[in-house]
Amino acid sequence: MGLSSRHLLGLQGVPKEDIQLILDTAVSFKEILNRPIKKVPTLQGKTIVNLFFENSTRTRTSFELAERRLSADVLTFTASTSSVTKGETLKDTARNIEAMKIDMVVMRHNVAGAADFLSKVIQSNVINAGDGQHEHPTQGLLDMYSLREKFGKLEGLHVCIVGDILHSRVARSNIFGLQTMGAKVSVCGPATLIPREIEQLGVDVYHHIDDILPKVDALNVLRIQLEREAGGYFPSLREFHRFFGVTKERLEKAGKPISILHPGPINRDVELSADVADGPHSLILEQVLNGVAIRMAILYLLGTAQ
Ligand code: CP
Repeated sequence: MGLSSRHLLGLQGVPKEDIQLILDTAVSFKEILNRPIKKVPTLQGKTIVNLFFENSTRTRTSFELAERRLSADVLTFTASTSSVTKGETLKDTARNIEAMKIDMVVMRHNVAGAADFLSKVIQSNVINAGDGQHEHPTQGLLDMYSLREKFGKLEGLHVCIVGDILHSRVARSNIFGLQTMGAKVSVCGPATLIPREIEQLGVDVYHHIDDILPKVDALNVLRIQLEREAGGYFPSLREFHRFFGVTKERLEKAGKPISILHPGPINRDVELSADVADGPHSLILEQVLNGVAIRMAILYLLGTAQ
């Protein structure tokens, strides 16, 4: 039994059985991560290239750790120090690297659809590590893993994604993945940061965070993407925090514990107050650990498929 595709490009349309298989496989890899010796020989002899055309801390480190813990040979490529700066195209870059006999490519790119394009021009397995405002499937999977670990199931959970939905590939991957697994998804944020067509994806839309808090099991709080000019969509960061910031006082008023996720990096005291980010209901650092287990599971399932 394996995955139904040889690439992981997004979670839209991925069957429930595939998501279940990835989450279940990650349970075994998380157990390995908690051992004193964290390395297994599963991908010995395989070569994986990480192509990062956009900055990353968590995803890049997490993929590199996952690959090394599976004993793969790993090459990490950053666009700023490559011949991309001399005008080489994505297709030429990827095909030249592939000519050196590699097996898998993990790519982050600032253009939506870049991973899909890559999967059509090279033979290696392609894993999307975030493409523009489109999808970030491994983040969606690690978020689902963290929720399943906390609640024991995904079916019937109510998760609200808060903040800058407009620019967020994380929101899209969470919506597709969680709905496939039977969870209810709502979104909450200023009207200017909620895409117009979002209701067509089957989510409820809220513009007052205090209205949604009593109804949800978990909040996935998104970063205001200041590098994508998100700060221009509302009057000030202070005002955003006043109306949409997830604070201890707000959560206490909800009258029940609500689990807090955030994909990082956090703008502390903008979308999330520091005491909530570091508080007892925060799953944020567990998400980071789970990210390594999820990426090991995906690399294993794609890298060992016949
Ligand atoms: N969550 C996430 O994608 O973080 P990075 O941008 O640091 O990889």
